[in-house]
Amino acid sequence: MPRGGGLMAPGARLRFLLAVWTLAVLARRSAGEAGDGGWQRRGPGAPAALAEEQRCAVERRADLSYSEFVQHYAFSRPVILQGLTDNSRFRALCSRERLLDSFGDNVVRLSTANTYSYRKVDLPFQEYVEHLLYPQDPTSLGNDTLYFFGDNNFSEWASLFQHYSPPPFSLLGTTTAYSFGIAGAGSGVPFHWHGPGFSEVIYGRKRWFLYPPEKTPEFHPNKTTLAWLQDVYPTLTSSARPLECTVQAGEQVLYFPDRWWHATLNLDTSVFISTFLS
Ligand SMILES: *[C@@H]1O[C@H](CO)[C@@H](O)[C@H](O)[C@H]1NC(C)=O
Ligand SMILES: *[C@@H]1O[C@H](CO)[C@@H](O)[C@H](O)[C@H]1NC(C)=O
Ligand SMILES: *[C@@H]1O[C@H](CO)[C@@H](O)[C@H](O)[C@H]1NC(C)=O
Repeated sequence: MPRGGGLMAPGARLRFLLAVWTLAVLARRSAGEAGDGGWQRRGPGAPAALAEEQRCAVERRADLSYSEFVQHYAFSRPVILQGLTDNSRFRALCSRERLLDSFGDNVVRLSTANTYSYRKVDLPFQEYVEHLLYPQDPTSLGNDTLYFFGDNNFSEWASLFQHYSPPPFSLLGTTTAYSFGIAGAGSGVPFHWHGPGFSEVIYGRKRWFLYPPEKTPEFHPNKTTLAWLQDVYPTLTSSARPLECTVQAGEQVLYFPDRWWHATLNLDTSVFISTFLS
C-alpha cells in the first residue's frame, strides 16, 4: 500500500491541517489588527493602494523642542514631527471592527472631496464603511467621491476622541479643534488653505502637496487631487512643484503653518485626525 498519508492516519492528518489553517487565519487576523486595523480591502476593479513617491522635501524632526518649533517652523514652514505622542491606544480603538462596534449606528456627514465641498450627505457610519469606502476609481476623476472628514459630532464621538493625544505644541492665542476622518485609497482634498494645524495618520498613508501662501498653485477647484496629480503635476517645472511628502501611519504628525496651500491624497484606505489651531 502506498504511504501517501505520511506518518499520520487520514483523520489525524485532516485535523492537523485544519489546526494549521485555523492558526494561519488567526495569525493573519491579529496581524491585520496590529497593522492596518482591518481597513485594507480591495474594492471593485480598482487597486487597493497607490504607489508612494519616495522623495520627501518636508523636514522630519524626531527631537524637536517647543522653542525650536516656534522659532523655525510654526510661522514659516511645514515639518513632520516624530515620536511626540503615543497614540497606540487610540489606534487600537480605530480598527475597522472596533469603530463599527462602537459607532456603526452614528449618522455621519459626508462631503464631496472638492475645494468648496458643495455636496453633503448624512448616512449611518456603518453604511459608509461597508458601501462607500472603496478605492477611488482612477478612470472617474470627477468630484463625486463622498468621504468622511470633519463635520464630526463631538458629543457622539467623545468617547473615542478622549483617547487621542494631540501634538503638545500649541500656539499662543489659539484654541484646538479636531477633525477626524476615514477615506478610501485615491481620495483626498484638493488645494485649499486655512489656519495652522497638525495632521496625523492613524492607519494608511497620506501624500501631501504644499505651497507657501504667496505661491497660489495651478489647480481646478472642482477636480480631485488624483485628477490634478495625473493632469497638472507632470507638466510642472521643477520650480513650480509643491513641497511634498508621504506621511506614514503611526509615529508621524505633519504640521502646516497658517495659510499654506495644501492638497492631500490618501494612498491607502486611511484613518486620520487633524488638530486645527485657530
Ligand atoms: C463637480 O461638481 C459639480 C457640482 O456637483 C458639477 O457640476 C461638476 O460637473 C463636477 N465637476 C467634475 C469635473 O466632475
Ligand atoms: C450630535 O449628536 C447628538 C446625539 O445623537 C444629537 O442630539 C445632536 O443633534 C448632534 N449634533 C449635531 C450638530 O448634529
Ligand atoms: C465648480 O462647480 C461649481 C458648482 O457646480 C460651479 O458653480 C463653479 O463655477 C465651478 N467652478 C469652476 C472653476 O468651474
